[in-house]
Amino acid sequence: MKTEMKMIDEAKLNQLIGQMLSDLGGASSVAMVRIGDALGLYKALNAKEAMTARELADAVGANERYVREWLANQAASNYLAYDPGSRKFSLPAEQAMIFAAEDSPVYMLGGFDLMAAILDNQPKVEAAFRDGGGVAWGEQAGCMFCAVARFFRPGYHNNLIGSWLPALDGVVDKLNRGARVADVGCGHGWSTVVMAKAFPNSQFIGYDFHQDSIDAARAHAAAHGVADNAIFEVGTAKDFAAAELDLVTFFDCLHDMGDPVGAAAHVRRSLKPDGSWMIVEPMAGDRLEDNLNPVSRLYYAASTMICVPTSLSQEVGAALGAQAGEAKLREVIAAGGFGSVRRATETPFNMILEARV
Ligand SMILES: C[S@@+](CC[C@H](N)C(=O)[O-])C[C@H]1O[C@@H](n2cnc3c(N)ncnc32)[C@H](O)[C@@H]1O
Repeated sequence: MKTEMKMIDEAKLNQLIGQMLSDLGGASSVAMVRIGDALGLYKALNAKEAMTARELADAVGANERYVREWLANQAASNYLAYDPGSRKFSLPAEQAMIFAAEDSPVYMLGGFDLMAAILDNQPKVEAAFRDGGGVAWGEQAGCMFCAVARFFRPGYHNNLIGSWLPALDGVVDKLNRGARVADVGCGHGWSTVVMAKAFPNSQFIGYDFHQDSIDAARAHAAAHGVADNAIFEVGTAKDFAAAELDLVTFFDCLHDMGDPVGAAAHVRRSLKPDGSWMIVEPMAGDRLEDNLNPVSRLYYAASTMICVPTSLSQEVGAALGAQAGEAKLREVIAAGGFGSVRRATETPFNMILEARV
């Protein structure tokens, strides 16, 4: 025992304990932040310069004692600022971008919803670890679908029209003139709606194999006034009906599919000879040792709890995982019959691949 104790590097241990404190604080923030979101506490704070606990509680119609305790946690988390002189709390501009501004590129409340859904998923995924089975997308716990849609929306809202589509070869010209587009694995259809709004001359059809997601996507399209050029149908990536397409898009879903090669082959059949396939996938290096960083840490967790179980619940069960990396994705795309693949652009969170026949 003594020898073992001697081998412990105190500095390393202290560093690790510091990391654990920070990690556990982050984990406890999932419930705290979601309460702030659900009760409108961040938005109410954002609407004023600064507020006492009483003022904030009155503004949202909540109990002052609970709000005071919540504010103390949020101040200790650096999620808001506290002025001891006035005993007032405020949401600085940077924190407002994360917690209150839905259109900001770094709005992160969807990330907290995702963490809650991941936790809800634990019993089913734990059982799947033992029997090697999958957990179908529609059986995942909580509103996984809403959380995923909310998590990815800021990226689409801020990048898709201004940066990702222009990085593809000649696609924006076609979309302006009037193109036929399928958005496959569209989930709640945020990406489809963003494109349909920007390109009213083009026709968009969103496909997903999950009926509830298609219902939500139809409602979003109607709410945003694009129901005429954005329609949604239930369909799998291997059997969707649209053909003679100019563009097919896959947003963060190729790696979720059981048979991504089969999906790639069907996309190839559905495209015009000069059509393009845009594949948006999580950013990742090709080797585990390239991915030992905070972004990949989150993606590997989501992959374990959502993506791998989804793929293993389908035919083939390729289970590429959310950190497949570009080399593996290129293999899959080429196996589907595409002659060229290039990384058109990227963000810290996504790589945007363009495949041509
Ligand atoms: C991580 S979500 C991404 C949803 C949406 N594209 C987004 O970015 O918000 C993956 C989506 O792929 C869909 N999906 C998974 N496998 C599929 C398949 N084989 N055919 C069609 N959709 C599939 C799921 O239903 C889910 O909506």
